[in-house]
Amino acid sequence: MKLLLLGSGGREYTFAWKISQSPIVDEIIVAPGNDGFKRLDKVKLVSIDLSNAKQITALAQEYNVSLVVVGPEQPLVDGIVDALEANKIKVFGPSKLAAKAEGSKAFAKDFMIKNNIPTAKHASFDSYQAACKYIETYNVDKGVVIKASQLAAGKGVVVTHDKTEALDTLYDFMENPKCTINSKVVVIEDKLEGKEVSAFAICDGKTFIPFGYACDYKRVYDNDEGPNTGGMGTFTPTNWPSEECKKMINERVFQAFMDGMKELKTPFKGVLFAGLMINDDTPKVIEFNARFGDPEAQVLLPLLDVDIVPALLASADGDLSKVQVKFKNQVAVHVVMTSGGYPSVYGEAMNLGNRIYYGQVSDTEDKILIFSGVKLDESGSGDLVNSGGRVLGVTALADTQEEAKNLAYDEIKKIKFHGAHWRLDIGK
Ligand code: AMP
Ligand code: GLY
Repeated sequence: MKLLLLGSGGREYTFAWKISQSPIVDEIIVAPGNDGFKRLDKVKLVSIDLSNAKQITALAQEYNVSLVVVGPEQPLVDGIVDALEANKIKVFGPSKLAAKAEGSKAFAKDFMIKNNIPTAKHASFDSYQAACKYIETYNVDKGVVIKASQLAAGKGVVVTHDKTEALDTLYDFMENPKCTINSKVVVIEDKLEGKEVSAFAICDGKTFIPFGYACDYKRVYDNDEGPNTGGMGTFTPTNWPSEECKKMINERVFQAFMDGMKELKTPFKGVLFAGLMINDDTPKVIEFNARFGDPEAQVLLPLLDVDIVPALLASADGDLSKVQVKFKNQVAVHVVMTSGGYPSVYGEAMNLGNRIYYGQVSDTEDKILIFSGVKLDESGSGDLVNSGGRVLGVTALADTQEEAKNLAYDEIKKIKFHGAHWRLDIGK
């Protein structure tokens, strides 16, 4: 069969890498992908505008694909699943209304309260004055988190620690014409203490299959310093969260989410990603996402010990009852290499267009080179150059975290490009 995979980053590269191993798949059309995908078996790249549902539908029809897999959130929130299903094209991912769980933080918080899903106390505001008034009466000493309600590519959340910072953030998000976040609605919530983890489930509208846990490193520098990024690395934790806590996550987060969505007549299919804070062995939901994490996919998909395609098809068909997933009994660590200047919070130019030397790196059973922001050098040399903030990453699998981390860093050291940056403390 043929599949169409939408997206272009490391998450989608890892999806393509995993899907290419499926004996039932002959060809993967990746749109738009990046030139690094060309080293994968069965992959054909097609350029596309991911905001154009008509173009995507036409592409799926032209190649007569059996399934469309949607990587990033924006097309989901824009309603790509509805557009494809209206044309009888099978698709892995939630409908526009179900993707609101990620697309609107105000909706997600109200949904959690109604369904008794543990989360931080919050209030939503559509008026700047009312939001400021609330902050004036708030005990900010313990921290207060300000969130733009809409999608903001990871830039719409600020954890603030005093009144001035909180009010400045509200001004930026709601009033400041110079700020890239232009929010009509903000969520103000208590700061949660504890340890963060990303939890995943594959869903079919009624029920779900747990799909593992990963810890993400969001800040650009070691020891979690510097600005937020899309993720500088990740690893799969061992012996944590506890079995008791996982049970609570399954019942109080995933199943409660599925039941609540079904009741709203917007059943959720696809990957559900719960960002959790765990404290005292008890989870609270920070956010829901309607797609896989990036770079979390880069550790979880390589650990999966079975073909992923039957699960993707069954989720799209709305019945996971016959699907079983199995993971390797190993630990995975993924280290990201970025371009100089990333994440470029004030719009500074990044150091792009540099040739990437990675000739000594080869994929094996226990290590994979994953391309996220690369393109072919325009001189026709066939070399890849960096073309985005997150350029590439290495995933390593081993029996222990220490070994996986060492293996990943041994590979990272062999890769060179001008301005490259990576954290040294992933998986430590
Ligand atoms: P979000 O986009 O909602 O995942 O928020 C981005 C990051 O902000 C999270 O990964 C957390 O590190 C942090 N964050 C968000 N909400 C809270 C909260 N209520 N308490 C503590 N940290 C938070
Ligand atoms: N790694 C966090 C995310 O994908 O949102």
